[in-house]
Formats: sequence, C-alpha cells, structure tokens
Amino acid sequence: MPETTPTTMHVKLKIKRFDPAEAGGKTWWQEYEVDVHPDSTVLDSLIEVREQNDGTLALRCACRASICGSCGMKVNGSAKLVCKTRVVDVAPNGEQLTIEPMGNQHVVKDLVISLDSFFSQINRVEPFLQPSFVPEQGEYTASNDSMENLLTSMNCIMCGCCVSDCTVLEVDANFIGPAALAKAWRFTEDPRDSKRDERLKNLNDEDGGMWDCTRCMKCVEVCPKGVAPMDRIMELREAAIEAGNTNTSGYRHTESFYNSVKKNGRLDETRLAIDSAGWTNIPRLLDLAPIGIAAMRKGKLPPLMPHKSEDHKKVKDLYKSVEDEA
Ligand code: SF4
Ligand code: FES
Repeated sequence: MPETTPTTMHVKLKIKRFDPAEAGGKTWWQEYEVDVHPDSTVLDSLIEVREQNDGTLALRCACRASICGSCGMKVNGSAKLVCKTRVVDVAPNGEQLTIEPMGNQHVVKDLVISLDSFFSQINRVEPFLQPSFVPEQGEYTASNDSMENLLTSMNCIMCGCCVSDCTVLEVDANFIGPAALAKAWRFTEDPRDSKRDERLKNLNDEDGGMWDCTRCMKCVEVCPKGVAPMDRIMELREAAIEAGNTNTSGYRHTESFYNSVKKNGRLDETRLAIDSAGWTNIPRLLDLAPIGIAAMRKGKLPPLMPHKSEDHKKVKDLYKSVEDEA
C-alpha cells in the first residue's frame, strides 16, 4: 500500500484570555483543538479557532508574511511572530501549545496588546534623521558602505517581541528598551545625522538608558529579523565611552570589572559595588549598606581584600595579548 500524506494536522491550543469588559478585567485559560493543513502556522490555527470554534477570540494580524510586525505573541513562553512560526516546528509530536499575549505591554483583549508604551519608548530616542543641512539641490546621499552598516537595525519591523521578553523591563518600566536603543543606534551610525554626540550623551546619562541592559540576550534570541538589539546596545556603549561619556555608574561598573579581573584573575565584588556607585556618592553608598549587612549575616559578604586566583598571571597574559592586538 503506498503511504499517503496526511491532509490535516490536529492542533491543541491553550490560550490566555482577557476580557476587559468584566469588572476589573477577567483573565482565564481556555483550551481549543482544531484540524488544519500540515504546513499551517500558529496564526493559521488561531484563525481557525476564531472562525470555527470561538468568534470572541481577539488577535491581531495583517500581512501573514512576517512583514508588518503585528502578530507578535508568546508561544510556549517566548515571543514570536505567529505567522512565521509553523506548528510542526513548535509542537512536532502534537504537544499542546500555550499562547499568551506579549509581555511588558498593556493587554487590550485576549492576544491583542497596546503598542502605546512601545512607541513611547521609540519616541524617546527622536527616531528621525536630523542633518546639519539640507542640500539645495538633489538628495543628501550617503555611501553604500555606511548604509549597509545600518541594515541590521533598519530591518526592524517594530513587532515588539524584544520588548515583550526583555528581562529588565519586567522589573523596571522606565528602561527605554531594546527596540528603542537599536533604533537610536541606527541614527548615531548614520553619517547624515548631526546629533550623534547629543544622542549618545542623552542615552548615557538618562535613567533607564543604555547602561540598564543586563545583557541577558533574550532580545537577540526572539528578534525575528536579526536586529540583535543587545549587540547594538553594546555598540552604543562603546561609542558613548569613545565620545568621553564616562561619568556613569554603568561605565564605572564596566571599568571596575575589567580592572579587577585583570589584576586578580577574578572579580572583586566588594570593590565592584563601591566603584559602580562612585566613591564620593554618599547617598548611593548608604543605599548599599543594608545589602552589605544582609549579605554579611548570611555569610555571603565577599572578602574585603580580594583573593588572587592561582592563574592570575595567565589572565594577565590574556589581557595583554588582547590589548596588544587592539
Ligand atoms: Fe521586533 Fe527585532 Fe524590531 Fe525588536 S528589534 S521590535 S524584536 S524586529
Ligand atoms: Fe504581519 Fe505576522 S501578520 S508579521
């Protein structure tokens, strides 16, 4: 008997629902099962649910081709464009899929989030070109190389997936966020923009700016367009330092980390905390005191005098070879 290719695939979905019309807003989980074509995406399955099972399910999509950025949702806990996510790739053995609205953004209904906070973050970086002059005739052109350099960031489709899974935004709503910083990088790197220094200074000084990223890599992992926001943030930091913006706890933290490992072959955590706060920043140092006391009580206070690692000479040699190459 010749093998026949299955014409449908059974998909099990567990969807987080939210109804704002109920007093205080009602949240609940609802399970659905649908049959779809074997090549279907998660979005196809959700549309099938809405069309065949439950017309009250709210979701947002437009292009269905990973272009418009409107179908971001959490699939099994991670933000994805559901129009780009095939069911067989996330549930190869027919496992139940968990679908939730994206994180760190206000939920309007079911799987639809408001993009207000996302665009407020983007607007904080003045996301438009500010040239020093406008040519009287023709266009202000830039070299191909300089434009190619911008491609990573220009690929952003404003889907909000990086913001959804940002672990800093989860605890600090004031953080400007990965998408806005990647957008800022795009203008600091554009040779036609005249506000580079100002942009770098603002993002360096700003509370919630470039130094608040903890380099967890989640934004790189979930970005569907290869923008790699964290890499752009690291480049912004380097550019800010090169431009002389060094009076921040972020810069002092980086410098202290670098010097302490270079000197001792391991991190001197006590010094790191004090250097990052700034030796003359008495209010910040006083803030740290209770943390130090709590750590001492639990026997977790790092030694006041750093121990040198046995291999510290090897570490020093490594530093030297890297510094010589730079
Ligand atoms: Fe989406 Fe990537 Fe742009 Fe973030 S950087 S909004 S994940 S395309
Ligand atoms: Fe446009 Fe998914 S529907 S990106």
